[in-house]
This record gives sequence, C-alpha cells and structure tokens, in this order.
Amino acid sequence: MKRAAIKGVMGYLPEDKLTNTDLEKLVDTTDEWIKTRTGISERRILKKEGWASSDMGAEAVKGLLKKTNTSPDEIDLLICATVTADMVFPDNANTICNKSGINNAFGFDINAACSGFLYSLTTGAKFIESGMCNKVIVVGTDMMSSIIDYTDRTTCVLFGDGAGAILLEASTDDTGIINSQFGGDGAGSAFLHMKAGGSKKPATVETVMNREHFVYQEGRSVFKYAVKGMANSINTVMKRSGLNAEDINWVVPHQANLRIINSVASSAGVPLEQVMINIHKYGNTTSGTLPLCLWDYESQLKKGDNLILTAFGGGFTWGATHIKWSYDGSDFSS
Ligand code: ACO
Repeated sequence: MKRAAIKGVMGYLPEDKLTNTDLEKLVDTTDEWIKTRTGISERRILKKEGWASSDMGAEAVKGLLKKTNTSPDEIDLLICATVTADMVFPDNANTICNKSGINNAFGFDINAACSGFLYSLTTGAKFIESGMCNKVIVVGTDMMSSIIDYTDRTTCVLFGDGAGAILLEASTDDTGIINSQFGGDGAGSAFLHMKAGGSKKPATVETVMNREHFVYQEGRSVFKYAVKGMANSINTVMKRSGLNAEDINWVVPHQANLRIINSVASSAGVPLEQVMINIHKYGNTTSGTLPLCLWDYESQLKKGDNLILTAFGGGFTWGATHIKWSYDGSDFSS
C-alpha cells in the first residue's frame, strides 16, 4: 500500500509575547497559579496590523516551500486546520494558497478544534495513499487571541497564537504515516464551545454585550475526558502497530496543560525526556500545537523514529497517529 510521509515542517510565531506577569495585570491570577496548574509561562499574540490566522498559516507555508525546495506549483492540495478562520466563510485554505503563490491546488478547512491538525494530517495522507495527490500541505493555524475573553481568568491564561505546516509526499520506503485512531463525542460540546456567532445564535448587540463570542470551557470536565481520550487512542494505535513503550522514540501530545501531558506520557509508559513539550513558551495554540512541536524538535528526529502524535479538543474530538519518521531532522537547518 502507498504510504504518505512527512518531508518537512515549518512554524510561524508572532513576535509579541503575553507573559504570566502581564496577565496578572489583567485578571485575578498569579504566575505561580498558571505555572503550577498549566505549565505555561508565556504565549505569543498576533498584533500585526491587518493580519489574521491565514497570514500566520501563509508564513509557515512559504517557509516550508522554501525549506523543502518545493515550487508552489507542485502542490496539489492544501488542508487548513483552524477554529479561527479569517472569516466564517470562505475557508482559510484557499486564502493561504493565494497568499503563498500556490495556484494549482484545491483546498479546504477542517474544524476539529484542538484535534484539527491530527485529523487534517490523516486526511491529507489519504489523498496521497489513494494516488489522487502527489504533494499535500497540511497547515494548522489559530489566532486564539481573537476568541479569548481577557477578563475571564479561567480561559485567558491558556491560549496563544501560532501556526505550523508540514509537507506530505508518497513514501519511498517503510517510513511514513502508519495508522491513526480517532474518536468523537458530541455530548462534549456542553463543556467547550463558543455560544454565539454561529447559525444557532447569530451575532446581535445582545450576544456581544453578554460576551458570548469567546471560548467557553468547563476546564475540570474537559481535563478528565482529555486524559482518557488520548490515553485510549495511544493504546489502540500502539496495539495496531505492534509497538511497546520501549519502541516509541517520541510522544507528541497536544499542548493544552502540562499536567495532561504528564499523565498521557505516563499512561503510554514513555519517559518525559521523550515527550515533546513547548507549552511553557506558546500555551495552547489549538491547531498549531502539534506542527509547532515537530518544528521545535525537528533537529532531534532521526529517520525511522517511532512518533505517536495525540490530541484532544472541542467536539469532543480526539485521536492518535503513529508515524515512522522519514528523514534525519539534522539534514534541515530550519
Ligand atoms: N488564576 C487563579 N485561579 C484560577 C484561575 C486562574 N487563572 N483559573 C481558575 N482559577 C480558580 C478557579 O476559580 C477555582 O477556584 P475555586 O476552587 O475557588 O472555585 C480553582 O482555581 C480551581 O479551578 P479548576 O477549574 O478546578 O482548576 P484546574 O486545576 O482544573 O485547572 C484548567 C483549570 C487549567 C482549565 C484545567 O482544567 C485544564 O487544563 N482543562 C483542560 C483544558 C483542555 O484540555 N482543553 C481542550 C483543548 S482546548 C480546545 O479544544 C479549543
């Protein structure tokens, strides 16, 4: 069977930082509470005039094309994972293509909240496996600062802005995207959603006054489902691939909370040194977390490494993917 392989990864982060000390001035919180309960020290916030999530995505994509020496015309498909597209419609994917000089591709968005990148990665891989596409870009980009209420201490400390992109091509050996397991539970929407701005409750003066255009989360409940969902998916994927804990080189978890990451790593039986963690620097960038982890750790990755990616997000959505890494990260100077 044809397999899809990741051939390169690139990230984009806005320059402006929002530190815990900055947040202490906005809401009733402390650096100590945030660090202990979430593991986050700072996050990036997109402040560039006129820029939105597609601009961060386009920066990551342009960097990826350059780094992998790929002409924009070679790209057949671009999938964008996001919950903060520039507009409700059209999609971000085609906007990103337009901003990146990609003219021969089709594109669409996937909204699976914090699992969006993982779902998009597998979707992109299927287009390669089927032979329909030769080169696919998957980009995760979210400007969470556009939907966060900076008067709500229970959510504003968690999220940041950022984007990451990967290039998929057919594998020429036994490396690539091996298998994925995903789960969903619509009952979870009660715990994590945005109340207004969709067809159920279109924007009105009242919805704005009631601050209903921001992320609403019942954190404690989400925490429990997240730990369970990711642990179960990792378990299934490891079984399907015949992997034991000692066969895994890296766990790449969605970066929502360091305590969730620790517990997912321990249920997989993988030591923390082999777990990609950058939540302290960026917070939860939603669709950006997984590609930004791969980008940060790329130089340490070796061809043949077994990676388990896992995510959990609004919906609820969750899953895990086993990747046999396809190149020595040290070959790229990103
Ligand atoms: N500073 C100080 N105190 C705070 C803050 C804050 N920023 N936020 C909440 N508190 C208080 C609460 O009010 C509460 O006080 P009380 O006991 O007097 O009522 C206390 O701290 C404990 O609150 P909890 O909600 O129980 O705190 P918890 O330890 O669960 O941490 C958190 C909250 C960080 C949100 C955690 O539950 C979490 O990470 N949840 C999962 C997030 C997640 O995975 N989301 C999915 C992806 S996101 C997406 O898909 C868009």
